[in-house]
Amino acid sequence: MKKHNVLIGITGGIAAYKIPNLCRLFIKNSYNVKIVMTENATNFVSTLTFEAIIRSKVYVNEFIEGSNESAIEHINLVDWADIIVIAPATANTIAKIAHGIGDNLLTSLMLVASNKTIFICPAMNTRMYLNPVTQQNIEILRKRSFFIIEPDEGELACGDVGPGRLKEVNDIFDLINKHVNALDNFKGIKFIITAGPTIEYIDPVRFISNRSSGKMGIALADYASLMGGEVLLIGHLLQSHGKLFNTIIIDKAIEMLELLKENVKKYDILIMAAAVADFKPKNVANEKIKKGEGLILELEENPDILKELSKLKNDRQVFVGFAAETSNSIENARKKLIEKNLDMIVLNNVLRQDIGFDSDYNEVTLIFKNNEILQIPKMKKSEIASIIVDKAIEIYKSKNV
Ligand code: C5P
Repeated sequence: MKKHNVLIGITGGIAAYKIPNLCRLFIKNSYNVKIVMTENATNFVSTLTFEAIIRSKVYVNEFIEGSNESAIEHINLVDWADIIVIAPATANTIAKIAHGIGDNLLTSLMLVASNKTIFICPAMNTRMYLNPVTQQNIEILRKRSFFIIEPDEGELACGDVGPGRLKEVNDIFDLINKHVNALDNFKGIKFIITAGPTIEYIDPVRFISNRSSGKMGIALADYASLMGGEVLLIGHLLQSHGKLFNTIIIDKAIEMLELLKENVKKYDILIMAAAVADFKPKNVANEKIKKGEGLILELEENPDILKELSKLKNDRQVFVGFAAETSNSIENARKKLIEKNLDMIVLNNVLRQDIGFDSDYNEVTLIFKNNEILQIPKMKKSEIASIIVDKAIEIYKSKNV
C-alpha cells in the first residue's frame, strides 16, 4: 500500500497541545509526516517536541539566514504532500488563507497548494468561531473544496461553553484515514442526493412548501464526497455549497422528478432526503392574486418521486428514502420501504422539538430491507450522514461483488 505524505500545519491556539497525539496516530498508521508551525504555535508547544515525534526538522520560518534551500521551501513541501491538515486552525490563519495572504511559511505554502486535498480543523473561542466574519471565511474555504472538520461543542480553555473545541484528534485522524482509504476503495461510486423542501407556486410570488432546512441532505452530500464519491445534489437549497459536489437547484417536485428520471440510471446510490411537497395547487395564477376576498386553494397530489424511480431501478443500485412520522413509526416506515422498493429507510420522529427541523442534530432509526433495525442516538447530522452513507456503501458493495 502506498504510504501517504501528510503535511500538518499547526497554528497558535491552545489546542496545539493535542497535536503531538495526532502526529503519533499518523505515524503509527504508516503515514509520512512533515510539520509546519507558525511562530505563534511555537509559543504553545516547542518545535523540539514535534521533532522528537516525527524525527525530522519542523519548519517555521520562510527564510532562514544562511540557508539557500529555504527560499523555495514552501514549494517543495507542497509538492511532497498528498494531504495537508491544518490543526488547530485559528480564525487568523483561516482568514489569511481565505483571502490569499501569505505572510509566513504556512500561509505562503497554502497559496501554492490550491490543487491539494486540504483539511482545516478550526479551534478557537466560541464567539470568535461564531463571528460572521469567521463563518464567512470558513464558507470561502468550503467553496474552494477544502474539507472543514468542524469543531466540537463544549467547555473551552477560556471558560466559554459552545462550539470551538478542536475535534478530538482520534476523530480527526479517523476521518482523514477513512477519506484516504475510501479514495482507494470507493472512488467512482456515484451518488445522487436530494435535499430540502420543494416549493409549489400558487402565483408568481406565493407558494406552499414543507418544513425542511436541507441540512441532512447537505451533510450526506458532504460526507459522500469526502469519501471520494462523485455527488450530484438536487434541491430547493438556499445555502451555498462548496465545489466538492455539483448542485442543481430546482423549485417544484415535478422538476425534481424529471431531473431524477433523466439521471438516476447513471448513478449507483440514490438518497432521497428531500421533503417533497405532497400537494400542489391545481391551478397556478399567472399574476399575483389580489387579497381582500379570501382564497380557496384547490390542491392535487404530486407524483411520488421514489415510487416513479423504483420502476427504473436496476439490481446494482441502492435506493435510500426518509420517513418523517408522528405515529406507528416503524410499521409505517417499513411499509414505505416495501412500497418504494428501497434498500434502507431513515426514520425521523418529527414531533421532537430539540432535534430534526433546522437543528444540527437528529436522532433516527435505520430500517433495512432484511428487517434489520439500527437505532442511532441523538448526534450531529454530519455524524448521522456518515453512518447512512457507510451503510449505503456496504449494501452497494454486497450487490456488486
Ligand atoms: O411517503 P412519504 O412522503 O412519507 O415518503 C418519504 C420519502 O419519499 C422521502 O424519502 C421523500 O424524499 C420521498 N418522497 C417522494 N415523493 C413524494 C413525497 C416523498 O419521493 N411525492
